[in-house]
Amino acid sequence: MIKKGIILAGGYGTRLSPLTKAVNKQLLPIYDKPLIFYPLSVLMLANIKNILLIVNPGQIESFKSLLGNGKKYGIKITYKIQKRPKGLPEAFILGKNFIKNDNVALILGDNFFYGQSLTSKLEKSLFHKNGARIFLKKVSQPKNFGVAKISKNTIEKIVEKPKKNISNQAITGLYFFDNKVCKYAKTLKPSRRGELEITDLLNIYKKNKNLKFEFIGRGAIWSDAGKIDDMTNVSNFVESVEKVQGIKIACLEEIALFKKWITKKTLLKNIKFYGNCEYSNYLKSL
Ligand code: TTP
Repeated sequence: MIKKGIILAGGYGTRLSPLTKAVNKQLLPIYDKPLIFYPLSVLMLANIKNILLIVNPGQIESFKSLLGNGKKYGIKITYKIQKRPKGLPEAFILGKNFIKNDNVALILGDNFFYGQSLTSKLEKSLFHKNGARIFLKKVSQPKNFGVAKISKNTIEKIVEKPKKNISNQAITGLYFFDNKVCKYAKTLKPSRRGELEITDLLNIYKKNKNLKFEFIGRGAIWSDAGKIDDMTNVSNFVESVEKVQGIKIACLEEIALFKKWITKKTLLKNIKFYGNCEYSNYLKSL
């Protein structure tokens, strides 16, 4: 059972500059909440309550002033600094003391997932004991992503940003790993762009015939918010859904309340913390 999760919320966010010159990407707005709420909500929906947030030097306090130690959402958040963005697998080197002997989930801080079948897929995957599991989503521009070629229900090949179109199944920013991930991550060498690559890590699992996958079907959406267009699109999507349906996507208190991780008293405290705003009005309606 996976009970621990890491959110990678560092990075330079170069493609979003100048927005990211003074503020971390994950603290920028997606419609009515900071981006970090969305990946955090995914882990919470997957019943993961013990979370390590990896951030850039000098940014812990900004994240803490928003999320604190997680108690207000009925979860536990600890923080770790990544000196510079050396690649996604560094999460398992920096997170070694957090992971200890357990299995672990990793989600990228700028990834957005939404859809009905998602929670059940996540819950099912949590029982995963051995190997690594990735979540695939069909995309129109595979050359911009890491992709997995599937044949006979197994992963035949994994390629980062393929020049030739070998598959349109992109590897999303959510991964489940067994405990060997810490050992494997240490063996990786930086690629030509000077980063440890997640595809290299996944290829170790593939070589050991221990890489599994799950499709995120067409009923769910996934996007990262790395570029301004993606960010605007996701923001507009959240706005439409929320306005039409009168619900909120990634309302952390709503998830925590539903799961009975927080009480009404905590909810009232949170309303006071956010102050007079639309988000608080929604919390009141809960
Ligand atoms: P990227 O989008 O690859 O990198 P970035 O956020 O620095 O943006 P840019 O390419 O525009 O400079 O990273 C994906 C997510 O992972 C993002 O949320 C930041 C995070 N990340 C880290 O926390 N540490 C890292 O070493 C890397 C590579 C990414």
